[in-house]
Amino acid sequence: MTQDARLSGRDLTLAYDQRVISRDLAVTIPDNSFTVIVGPNACGKSTLLRALSRTLKPAEGSVLLDGQVIGSYPAKEVARRLGLLPQTSIAPDGIGVADLVARGRFPHQSFLRQWSAQDEAVVAEAMESTGVSALADRSVDELSGGQRQRVWLAMVLAQQTPLLLLDEPTTYLDIAHQMDMLDLCADLHAERGHTLVAVLHDLNHACRYATHLIVMKDGTIVAEGEPATIVTADLVEKVFGLPVRVIEDPETATPMIVPVDRRGVRRVHD
Ligand SMILES: Nc1ncnc2c1ncn2[C@@H]1O[C@H](COP(=O)(O)OP(=O)(O)OP(=O)(O)O)[C@@H](O)[C@H]1O
Ligand SMILES: [Mg+2]
Repeated sequence: MTQDARLSGRDLTLAYDQRVISRDLAVTIPDNSFTVIVGPNACGKSTLLRALSRTLKPAEGSVLLDGQVIGSYPAKEVARRLGLLPQTSIAPDGIGVADLVARGRFPHQSFLRQWSAQDEAVVAEAMESTGVSALADRSVDELSGGQRQRVWLAMVLAQQTPLLLLDEPTTYLDIAHQMDMLDLCADLHAERGHTLVAVLHDLNHACRYATHLIVMKDGTIVAEGEPATIVTADLVEKVFGLPVRVIEDPETATPMIVPVDRRGVRRVHD
């Protein structure tokens, strides 16, 4: 793993006041990867993403972005390099969809550089690619959970950052929109060379899409690498406490995790 990756953390202690979540954590996000973080609830995934995005200041250690400690950049400069989709976001009261997505352009604006036709085009493209163009004039408050999720993603895409950190981008989405979202992320990675980090709960999606998988438990990284190399039934049981079988995904030949039937409800048809 390269020492000079665009985004990494070393000797990290991450804590909320006295409550330490991670200690001595080292993490490197491989450049141009689609990195997926998985792990049980409360193991520290969002906390790590917050640290990597400058939202949470490490109690010890440092996060490096493009060779500099992330806290040493002005917030706007970080926002030009790195976009974060938090696990939950609250929209300003009564804001419209197009206006919220347009906020993704703020980091690119200044007193001298005001709203331009290019900003307009970027916002339109972000709304198109997330399938929310038809909602442009609606108020964010009145959208469904899945629609809202896609609007927030559009806002982050409008930021046009080479690094994207997405905390559970597929929660609230139906299966078709989940696949659309993940395909869109995979395209950003494959075609535009963006580096993506996404927290996902669906292990099968994680195995299908991740070029680099990070498995966390109790604030530590217990395994990382290519899904096909690291995902085993033993690992899943150790991390989630759930007995599973790992078979081959018939579509993609990546690992597919099937929970063991503990209730004996198997129906035999003959
Ligand atoms: N703002 C906060 N203040 C205090 N403790 C927090 C705060 N946010 C999270 N925690 C605690 O830190 C631990 C890790 O939380 P985190 O949100 O990182 O988990 P997660 O892995 O993202 O879980 P999930 O899968 O449920 O989203 C949890 O025990 C949680 O209660
Ligand atoms: Mg979380």
